[in-house]
Amino acid sequence: MQGEKFYITTPIYYPSDKLHIGHSYCTVAADAMARYKRLRGYDVMFLTGSDEHGQKIERIATSQNVTPKQYVDKIVSGIKELWSSLDISYDKFIRTTDEQHVEAIKKIFKTLYDKGDIYKSEYEGWYCTPCETFFTEHQLVDGKCPDCGRDVEKLKEESYFFRLSKYQDRLIKHIEDNPGFISPASRQTEMLSNFLRPGLDDLCVSRTSFKWGIPVDFDPGHIVYVWVDALSNYITALGYDTDNDELFKKYWPADVHLVGKEIVRFHTIIWPAMLMALDLPLPKKVFGHGWLIIDGGKMSKSKGNVVDPKVLVDKYGLDAIRYFLLREVAFGQDGNFTNEALIQRINSDLANDLGNLVSRTVGMIEKYFGNTLPSQQDSTEFDLSLIETAAATVEKFEGYMDRMLFSDALSELWVLIRRTNKYIDETQPWVLCKDEEKQSMLAGALYNVSESIRIISIMIQPFMTHAPKLIWQQFNITDPSLTEWDSIKKWGLLAHDLSVTKGDIIFPRIDMKKELAELEAALKVAQSESIANQTSKKAEEEKEVFEEITIDDFCKVQLVTGEVIASEPVKGSKKLLKNTVKLDDETRTILSGIAKYYTPVEMVGKKVIVVANLAPRKMMGEISHGMILCAEDVDGNLSLATDDKQFESGCEIR
Ligand code: ME8
Ligand code: MG
Repeated sequence: MQGEKFYITTPIYYPSDKLHIGHSYCTVAADAMARYKRLRGYDVMFLTGSDEHGQKIERIATSQNVTPKQYVDKIVSGIKELWSSLDISYDKFIRTTDEQHVEAIKKIFKTLYDKGDIYKSEYEGWYCTPCETFFTEHQLVDGKCPDCGRDVEKLKEESYFFRLSKYQDRLIKHIEDNPGFISPASRQTEMLSNFLRPGLDDLCVSRTSFKWGIPVDFDPGHIVYVWVDALSNYITALGYDTDNDELFKKYWPADVHLVGKEIVRFHTIIWPAMLMALDLPLPKKVFGHGWLIIDGGKMSKSKGNVVDPKVLVDKYGLDAIRYFLLREVAFGQDGNFTNEALIQRINSDLANDLGNLVSRTVGMIEKYFGNTLPSQQDSTEFDLSLIETAAATVEKFEGYMDRMLFSDALSELWVLIRRTNKYIDETQPWVLCKDEEKQSMLAGALYNVSESIRIISIMIQPFMTHAPKLIWQQFNITDPSLTEWDSIKKWGLLAHDLSVTKGDIIFPRIDMKKELAELEAALKVAQSESIANQTSKKAEEEKEVFEEITIDDFCKVQLVTGEVIASEPVKGSKKLLKNTVKLDDETRTILSGIAKYYTPVEMVGKKVIVVANLAPRKMMGEISHGMILCAEDVDGNLSLATDDKQFESGCEIR
């Protein structure tokens, strides 16, 4: 094990949305694994980064009047701040805009072209921009993206294609011959039966209708498909195909790519096929974890149900959040995120079980022996069972961690924590202390508890970055040999005459009622605001009476089809979006009060119906040249009116 390499990666994140606790989940898991392997003596390479190219990013940047590079630079520095606030110990952060990556992608594309694995043809089909994924007609569900349910766009472009179909049989064989390659096993079944066995089509790997990406070296009108660009990060970050490829030689193939379940397909089909085409070894494992769910749906910005990890860290502390993420949900499955569950875990597992164990032990050593245990110590009848539990916990914990079963590893560790608390109750120091003859037995009992706490503090390190140090301070543990991993396999390493220094409470209890009441109050304010809006609106509606009009009256209104090509919020307004709409051959700025119902990203690409001859109107300091039509339900919710067959922009509506 000593010195053996371990290469672990997270997905590289799109800088299109603010990262939320769902993204943090994957990164915290990878961090726990990286820390665990380092503790076990591995030479670890932990890679994360950002996936910065593609049409989605280009559109958002345009809508915000900045260049794509300016846009990603700003967001990426925020991502790095988030990782530092969560103590993510990555060794490398790759950006797909890094020069080294860009050059390597051009070479990879050229190599595959020269080998005949990439060829030129024409793509006709559908594209989901939020997912940056191509779909055929029959893959769509009710005409929408089968992955995210949003609108797709029709594409017809000259494109390069990757011969994915050629690798189908080799991929199936590889997956069948290597049962651990796709984990958990349920995801392997899904890949085989839903994608590989029905047959693979060749993959479109270039686009010509936008600019923000890596150009094909020998045909610069083409931009490399963003997933080909993104997946390659795992090797370009290590200097693949450069003069400086020592890291690549040392760490490739990856030991594990950690990814969310919706992108397992890219990592277990497209990526391995690309590697086969490049004659490179495949990653040893792709682990597909589940989603953090809120109110039954995947947490996502467009659903407005995201939880900001920074708020949680500020409120409850880093260790508590990292612990909760990996304890609450079995890795691999979806898990519900609730504030109640978080506070519950903090109070029971952290404040009651672990925090209290440390503070009551330090307190007793202080009280009964004035800080330092006497070396004269006797055993009790309960010692053996505690020592055996510790040994069993260590063994099971390692087994679970090696399989990335974080929740099981933690619950095993809590078996030891609870056993240690029970040992205190069994030995009853508060009774022993009263008996002059039992002083050495009392010292022995407190020694055993301290030794168990030392072992616990070492095992908790992959998950918590503060608590172990706070514990070592209170027990004055400074000798590194007492905190290294293998030291948990030996009982009795702490000096018998150990001394303690009382410190702050490591995990304060949270008043659940008060905390939830605060949240509820905030919710009520938001609710009453929207009720107030609705009541005044209803009153207005009731006054509205329509008089009959002639066809000539109707013809005075110029209605045309338009396409939203950019959209951004209006400063100082919660309601308005400022849209750039293409009509025939002109574009216009049209303000619309739909910010509550559509995000700017969702607006872009929408085919809408515009009142084109409406007199310009000024709202919140901006001028609107026309109106976008919407349906409004009784609750005042808005839905864009659109033309069923998606005709060109500028068509007349009558
Ligand atoms: O997919 N719960 O990036 P991304 C758990 N750029 N995990 C979640 C989550 C949630 N609620 N929401 C997101 C991409 N994630 C590509 C990857 S890799 C070569 C390119 C996870 O920013 C999601 O499952 O959309 C995915 O693994 C990761 O965040 C990045 O998502
Ligand atoms: Mg995604």
